[in-house]
Amino acid sequence: MQYWKEEPIRLLIDEDELRQMVENLGSEISRDYRNKVSVESPLLLVGILKGAVVFMADLARSMAVPTALDFMAVSSYGASTTSSGIVRILHDLDTSIEGRHVIIVEDIVDTGLTLRYLRDHLASRGPRSLKVCVLLDKAERREVPVCVDYCGRQIPDEFVVGYGLDYAERYRDLPYLGVVTEME
Ligand code: IMP
Ligand code: MG
Repeated sequence: MQYWKEEPIRLLIDEDELRQMVENLGSEISRDYRNKVSVESPLLLVGILKGAVVFMADLARSMAVPTALDFMAVSSYGASTTSSGIVRILHDLDTSIEGRHVIIVEDIVDTGLTLRYLRDHLASRGPRSLKVCVLLDKAERREVPVCVDYCGRQIPDEFVVGYGLDYAERYRDLPYLGVVTEME
C-alpha cells in the first residue's frame, strides 16, 4: 500500500488535473515562444530547487518548443529578513543568461519575496526576455507585488505538499497535490 494513505493529507489536486494544468501551461508558453526560440537558441527554463523539480520535468516535456534546463537553489529568508526580502543564492546557474529568453519556473508563489528577488536579480544579468511561471499561486498571502506571467492555478491559503512541494522535506514524492491536515 502507498505510504501516504496513512498520512494526514487531504487531496487538493489529483494527477489528472495536474497533468491538464501542466499541458495547458506548456501550450500557452509554446505559442508565445514559437517564433522566438530554436534548437540552437532554446528557451531557458530556470527551475528553483527543490520544489520546482517535478513540475519542471513535466513542463519541459509538455513544451512544443526547444528548451534548455538549468537550476538555482535559494535559501528561505529567516524571520529577520522577511521585510527586506533578501534571499541568498545557495546554488547558481551553470550558464550565462545574457541575451537569452528565460523563464523562471517555481512551484508556488506565496508572499512573493522569493520571486521578486529572483526576478530582479536575474533581470540584472541581461536576458533577452524574462518571465515567471508558477504551478500554484496563493494570491491572498502576497506581501510584495510580483509579476507572474504563467500560473497553473490559484489556491486558498493552506499548506500544500506533493508533486515536488514539501513539509519539512517530506511528501515531495506524492504524485498528487494535498493539504497537510495536521502540522507537528
Ligand atoms: P514566498 O517567497 O513567500 O513567495 O515563498 C515561496 C516559497 O515558499 C516556495 O518556493 C515554497 O518553497 C515555499 N512555500 C510556500 N507555500 C508553500 C506550501 O504551501 N507548501 C510548500 N512550500 C511552500
Ligand atoms: Mg520553492
